[in-house]
Amino acid sequence: MPASPTLLVFDSGLGGLTVLREIVRLRPDARVVYVADDAFFPYGQRSEEAVIGRVVPLIGELIAAHAPDLVVIACNTASTMTLAPLRARYKVPFVGTVPAIKPACAASRTKRVSVLGTSATVRLEYTRALIRDFAQACKVTLVGSAHLAALAEAALGGRPISDQQIFAEIAPCFVKDGGVRTDAVVLACTHYPLLLDRLKALAPWPVDWIDPAPAIARRVATLLGGAAAPAGSPRDAQLIFTSGRRHPASGALLPFFGRPVAA
Ligand code: DGL
Repeated sequence: MPASPTLLVFDSGLGGLTVLREIVRLRPDARVVYVADDAFFPYGQRSEEAVIGRVVPLIGELIAAHAPDLVVIACNTASTMTLAPLRARYKVPFVGTVPAIKPACAASRTKRVSVLGTSATVRLEYTRALIRDFAQACKVTLVGSAHLAALAEAALGGRPISDQQIFAEIAPCFVKDGGVRTDAVVLACTHYPLLLDRLKALAPWPVDWIDPAPAIARRVATLLGGAAAPAGSPRDAQLIFTSGRRHPASGALLPFFGRPVAA
C-alpha cells in the first residue's frame, strides 16, 4: 500500500458517511472518494439481481476512474448482495459492511437481539446464515425497515421527520418474551446511525445499539498498514452523487469528512 492511500467509499446514499467518519479518524492521511449511488437509491427496495447488475459494473467504472488502493462497500444491502461477485471480478481489496450479529449476540445479557436492516438485507440468505453461525444461544428477531434509510437521508437534508415516522420503523425491534426483553439492536444499515440520538430517545426501553463502523474502520486501517500521517495533514476528499446533483445541505456533510471536500 502507498504511504498516502486512496480509498473509494461507496453507498447507495449518505449512510456510508457513518463509516467514512470512523475511517478518517484513523487515517486522516488517506485520500477519499465518496460515491453515493443516489440515482438508484434505495437499494433496500430492489431485488438482488438488480443490485448486482447495478453495482458490479459501476464499481468497475469507479475503480478505472479513481484507481483506489482499497474499496469500502459502506452499505449492508450492497455488501451482502455483491461482495462475492466484486471480489471475483476485481483485484483491488474490498472491505464490506455486514450485519454485526456476532458482536451483538456476544454482548447481549438477555439473549434477545434484534437486527434492524433494510427489507432486502433481512430477507437475504447471507443474513440468515450469519444468524445460524453466530447467534449462539440468542433469539434473533429480524426487522426489515421499508422507510428508515430514506428518513435518515431526509433528516440529513434538513427536512423535518416526525417521531411517529421513526417509531413505526423501530417498534418491532422491542420484543418482550415473558419477562425477558431485547437488550441489543444491530444497526444493519449504515444510514441508521445518522438517526442514533432519535432512536435512543424513542426506544421504549434502553438497549445497546450496535454500530459496526468503528470495527470496519479498524479493519480498513489494518489492511492499509503503516502509520497514519501526523494529525493536521488531511488529504483531499471528493463527494460524488451518481445523479449528478448537489446535496441541498452540503454543509451538514462536511463533518463526516473532517477536511475540505470537492463536490
Ligand atoms: N445504506 C444501505 C445499507 O447499509 C441501505 C440504504 C438503501 O436502502 O439503499 O443497507
